[in-house]
Amino acid sequence: MKRILIVVVALFISQINFAKEEEWGKTGHRTTGEIAQAHLSRRAQKAIDKLLNGHSLAFVANHGDDIKSDPAYRKYSPWHYVNIAPEATEYDPENASEDGDLVTGIRKCIAVLEDKNSSREDKQFHLKMLVHFVGDLHQPFHVGHASDLGGNRVDVKWFGKKTNIHSVWDSKMIDSYEMSYTELAENRDELSKLQVKAIKDGDLLDWVYESRNLAEKLYKSVEKDNDLGYKYMYEWFPTVRQQLQKGGIRLAKILNEIYN
Ligand code: ADE
Ligand code: ZN
Ligand code: ZN
Repeated sequence: MKRILIVVVALFISQINFAKEEEWGKTGHRTTGEIAQAHLSRRAQKAIDKLLNGHSLAFVANHGDDIKSDPAYRKYSPWHYVNIAPEATEYDPENASEDGDLVTGIRKCIAVLEDKNSSREDKQFHLKMLVHFVGDLHQPFHVGHASDLGGNRVDVKWFGKKTNIHSVWDSKMIDSYEMSYTELAENRDELSKLQVKAIKDGDLLDWVYESRNLAEKLYKSVEKDNDLGYKYMYEWFPTVRQQLQKGGIRLAKILNEIYN
């Protein structure tokens, strides 16, 4: 009997670990917020400043994760990602959970901010969430496969230590780079007007497909139990920086449209 109990408890604990999810790390979200701040129109800047009591977009960028441990906010958990099956040709809102997904979540945030009848408190909350989710949208594994929880179940090593490919993209590469979010934002690539315009082009679903295509490429370029390190960093960190920059520019586009 005792042995059965031990087995049951062990299984339970292993499931907890299995289900543990990772997040585009704090530095990534803040970088996207900081880059967006630099692309805001004066009107948007003023309105947002007022709504956030002078706090920056970088400052509020991790609120979406901070509330995760509070059961009262559990319904927002599926808003952090959207899964599109490899064989699917397009996004199908029918696949979203009852509580929605990253796409419906972002749309809801925009709707609340555009609604004159929303309370100040509601607007504040949904602005913080919008900053967070547009960041998540640009972490390719937040638009990954449901079958492996967006790469959370694709085990790899990072400099010899056990982790998974989702986590490598959330935070391992960014943390290994050892730059603060302000440094990452300041050192973003200099883009021509034309390049910025190309990034702003399209709508939410175009950006979802872009992340999804990147995720497909990344799934193919890694095998279970690969030990990733310097070579992987060298190959993919430029893409990480690019994703953070795209997230910032597109977040600013959304906000400038809301407050125009
Ligand atoms: N985090 C938890 N589940 C996930 C999923 N299915 N896709 C991406 N990120 C996730
Ligand atoms: Zn994540
Ligand atoms: Zn998130």
